[in-house]
Amino acid sequence: MDMSKDSLRGKHSNDSKSETTIMMLPSDANPKGNVFGGVILKHIDLIAGLVAKRHAGHANVVTASIDRVAFLKPVFIGNALILSARLNYVKRSSMEVEVIIMADDLDSGERTLTGTAFVTVVALDDAGKPVKVTPLILRTEDDRRRFLEGESRMNARLK
Ligand SMILES: CC(C)(COP(=O)(O)OP(=O)(O)OC[C@H]1O[C@@H](n2cnc3c(N)ncnc32)[C@H](O)[C@@H]1OP(=O)(O)O)[C@@H](O)C(=O)NCCC(=O)NCCS
Repeated sequence: MDMSKDSLRGKHSNDSKSETTIMMLPSDANPKGNVFGGVILKHIDLIAGLVAKRHAGHANVVTASIDRVAFLKPVFIGNALILSARLNYVKRSSMEVEVIIMADDLDSGERTLTGTAFVTVVALDDAGKPVKVTPLILRTEDDRRRFLEGESRMNARLK
């Protein structure tokens, strides 16, 4: 956690980014061994909420929307699902979290990109009303590029 002067003015995406690895079990899949899309969506939702909560601190956080997610490659029972999530953009109460989904074939060690998801999470106060969160600190060119792209996606999804 960044405890420099910056953290008083906001938080950097490194303060909230998260990664999780989950072994896919028979209960996650159809009879042929293909993992259900809904199982992956659940883990996307969970990690996006975790990242947003780390940024928002005390506030409650809820998912407002998940952009269209395409599953590019199958995930099978016995694969490890690896999700990496980070904040791209913070508006007022809303935050855009990008989640990268990888499937890890534990027999071969091969990792395959399965998809990318953009999740909008909104912070709520104790009364359940949307509440402003701390700004996102941008330090690098990559931070600024992601922020601008996130802003343009947010404008498009709110149209
Ligand atoms: C998301 C929710 C809080 C928005 O409430 P609202 O009354 O529309 O409030 P506002 O219009 O003030 O919007 C609040 C923020 O959400 C954003 N927002 C609202 N709908 C959105 C959507 N579909 N996609 C992305 N952002 C959205 C607004 O742009 C605004 O962002 P800002 O504060 O950064 O400017 C409300 O629709 C809700 O509670 N939905 C259910 C959330 C939930 O429970 N999810 C779990 C699954 S059921």
